[in-house]
Amino acid sequence: MGIRVSRRLWMSVAVVSAALSLVPAVEAWAQNKPLPQVVKKNGKAALMVDGAPYLILGAQANNSSNYVAQLPKVWPAIKDIQANTLEIPVAWEQIEPKEGQFDFAYVDELVKQARQNHVRLVLLWFGTWKNTSPNYTPDWVKLDNKRFPRITKKDGTMSYCLSPMERTTLEADKKAFVALMTHLKKIDGDQHTVIMIQPQNESGTYGSVRDYSPKAEKVFNGPVPQALLKKKGISKGGTWSVVFGKHADEYFHAWHIASYINEIAAAGRAVYDLPMYVNAALREPLIEVGPETYSSGGPTHNVIDIYQAAAPAIDIIAPDIYKRDSANYEAVLSLYSKFENPLFVPETGSDTEFARYIFSVFGRGGIGFSPFGIDYTGYTNYPLGGKDMSPEGLKPFREKYALFAPMMRDWAKIAYENPVWGVSEADDRKPQTIDLGGKWKLDVLYGEWQFGLTEWTWMGKVDPVPGREKPNGGVVVAQLSEDEFLVTGVHARLNFGLGPKTKGKNLIFRSVEQGHFENGQWVVDFVWNGDQTDYGLNLTGQPAVLKVKLATY
Ligand code: DGJ
Repeated sequence: MGIRVSRRLWMSVAVVSAALSLVPAVEAWAQNKPLPQVVKKNGKAALMVDGAPYLILGAQANNSSNYVAQLPKVWPAIKDIQANTLEIPVAWEQIEPKEGQFDFAYVDELVKQARQNHVRLVLLWFGTWKNTSPNYTPDWVKLDNKRFPRITKKDGTMSYCLSPMERTTLEADKKAFVALMTHLKKIDGDQHTVIMIQPQNESGTYGSVRDYSPKAEKVFNGPVPQALLKKKGISKGGTWSVVFGKHADEYFHAWHIASYINEIAAAGRAVYDLPMYVNAALREPLIEVGPETYSSGGPTHNVIDIYQAAAPAIDIIAPDIYKRDSANYEAVLSLYSKFENPLFVPETGSDTEFARYIFSVFGRGGIGFSPFGIDYTGYTNYPLGGKDMSPEGLKPFREKYALFAPMMRDWAKIAYENPVWGVSEADDRKPQTIDLGGKWKLDVLYGEWQFGLTEWTWMGKVDPVPGREKPNGGVVVAQLSEDEFLVTGVHARLNFGLGPKTKGKNLIFRSVEQGHFENGQWVVDFVWNGDQTDYGLNLTGQPAVLKVKLATY
């Protein structure tokens, strides 16, 4: 994606976006369709659900919302934000409170209510690691350090974190996870209410780069596995220290956690083959920091390749993004798009300024986006996320989901098969330029009214556009054919321009259609022209999807 920030205002055109109330399409539930699956083609990825690409317009419930008593406070928020997918925990402690005795009453009720609410589910398995800790393991696990040992730190003291080197722990977690997957297959195998699984939550360890127990030391002084050498393109093997030097401790820990998760995921998939992803507590994306400063061994950006080598049963390595600033956010998205890793943001902050990043995610061909802590249980994780968990507080997300909800299948398919781009308003609020492949470009401006330019003085003082205290704009663009683009977004002015391949010519709109998709076909509602195109194509908070056909004269 070639985006450069440009202050140059290529001025020609504009629009009033008409208020069209688009009702999100409620999907008919399909029976006996193929299993959900992550597919890849030409460097792109799609999440297939019932045989067609699906876009996760997600919402993750709070951590303790995984009880039947909490569900009535979850669904209204999911509806208000217009999400099509709820991400919600299933905790080991709740399904296996006594060893070997399973209780799926919550899972049964959750799946039933999800169907009633026409929402798909992504289930988060809180097992050995939940934000690195074993707090969600049953008490017969977390209180038995002898049978389920914790990591030994370098100074010989005990860490809070369970060790990935322990077979007993792995086997116990795996048994519970397989029981869950077996149950899901039984109750949902023909309906796919549950479309994806996240085995573990933010794995890794704070405060110890790896396990230094005698058992771990022995393995650490043994050879680096062949599969890892191959992935790294290293021909000469040796011990971890010899091969990886100063990174040895962290890589060792990452390899063993990833292998542990892989074995559990693979066993689950062997009974019920749903797509699976892991989520990461992030490492700083823009500055060099050491593993003592983040969750060492978790799927941080510097070990994505190690996770891929150790965990082939995992489809996606996904970032949980809670830093608000735009340079940081974009850097994380770039880092998690490398190594042909499908882009999915399973958690992001619920505050206003996070909502716009949906355009950066979907503009990179992302398969899903999901703010965290979306329910009306009365809990908010401010200052990490937003403080207003009310219909009003959800508005910044609802406004964006309203664009994609009616065409989520269409966008997912288009993004899988065509070039797509996207930008979200940067913190400096300056214009951005998207290179649309050489023939055309797109300047995206923020803070303009629908008519004219704010810098014009001859009309007198111009009020600032309201509701713009925080950056909230952005757009996505898909190239449908050489001169034809599908665009949508909010709070932005779009100025199409000539690229290097059309230099010296003059640009004209062949047409600008506002419309929607019906059964995969574009349906024109009306055509934008005159004031609506003379000052750029101006997207407000009203849902508008445009098909723009460009020409030269
Ligand atoms: C990231 C974790 O994955 C979530 O479960 C939650 O703890 C948030 N951090 C903080 O609210």
